[in-house]
Amino acid sequence: MFDFDHLPDRSNTGSLKWDRYREHDVLPMWVADMDFVSAPEIVAALRARAEHGVFGYTIPYEDAVRETLRYLERRHGVAAQADWLVWMPGLVPALNLICRAFGESGDAVMTCTPVYPPFLSAPIFQDRKRIAVPLRLDGARWSFDWDAMESAVTETTRLFILCHPHNPVGRVWRREELERLLEFCERRQLILVSDEIHCDLILDDVPWTATLALGERAAQRVITLHAPSKTYNLPGLACAYAVIPDAGLRTTFRRAARGIITEINAFGYTGCAAAYRHGEPWRQAVLAYLRENRDFLYSFVKERMPAIRMQPMEATYLAWLDVRALNLEHPHRFFEEAGVGLSSGVDFGAPGFLRLNFGCPRARLLTALERMARALDS
Ligand SMILES: Cc1ncc(COP(=O)(O)O)c(C=O)c1O
Repeated sequence: MFDFDHLPDRSNTGSLKWDRYREHDVLPMWVADMDFVSAPEIVAALRARAEHGVFGYTIPYEDAVRETLRYLERRHGVAAQADWLVWMPGLVPALNLICRAFGESGDAVMTCTPVYPPFLSAPIFQDRKRIAVPLRLDGARWSFDWDAMESAVTETTRLFILCHPHNPVGRVWRREELERLLEFCERRQLILVSDEIHCDLILDDVPWTATLALGERAAQRVITLHAPSKTYNLPGLACAYAVIPDAGLRTTFRRAARGIITEINAFGYTGCAAAYRHGEPWRQAVLAYLRENRDFLYSFVKERMPAIRMQPMEATYLAWLDVRALNLEHPHRFFEEAGVGLSSGVDFGAPGFLRLNFGCPRARLLTALERMARALDS
């Protein structure tokens, strides 16, 4: 029904992902967007909006708000109210504003590595200290290192930023882990920021618990960050939102955003409403395709590049490859020279690792993997 084997030509569209290697024979497998055309209903809604022809300042309009509230209820069991939503042109600005809004210069922000690079840069950009606690690998499963977190937290730590599911290790945190994290944040009086942008890209049949679904205690200290952009491949529409049930936290956050975040893109709301309203068949289809890509990748790595380790991943289209055993001085550069553009683990706080984006047609994935394997063979 949807043709995920088709590779769209993204040249001359200002693609961040593709233009990095415009003049080079390097396959872009880095930044987190997918080489798939979005759901037809989303494309149709955007076309209809464009045909209206008037593109004035746009406020969060009824359709987008209604569909988002329904989505939060249906998917997360969270009965949110419209005024809990703070619309943003992206979650990176939201992460930065949160670091700036709470606490003071020199206070600290905790997160767990390896992690999406803006989690590491936002505290520094906003004049905060960064406390990065490595996740632990227990067998084949990444988990929180509770003892290390207890030792690292300080009196001036104000925030914990959680990635749920976790980019790049692909873990979906379980209810027990979230409850323990909430208890940790309560005891240390931290605001818990839960970035759930990848939550609709869960590949395995594992239970999903939204952090806000932990109930009233969570509502007092959790800020959830969401966007339809990863799931439906819409990041260029610049539409994301924070869900902040607590009025005090919300006011502080909104104040920090004053004069910096103004009206967001009219097409963003249109895309968001259409995604939540009509996107489910496309989402299920893309999940099935991504699941096969992941399994294919996993087998390929195991058979053809056994020195690379890849732990089982439950979510996202971003694979986390441990290439330490290859003993390469610059692993990222090595594969780039072999014609594959990956994300460097250094940026995630984990040298010796690479992240591979498999949100692309399978043939393309195969070409990239063959290039990698050939480079290692020679
Ligand atoms: C965990 C996480 N948060 C946020 C973002 C980006 O958010 P935005 O494009 O809304 O700034 C990404 C993109 O890859 C991500 O992986």
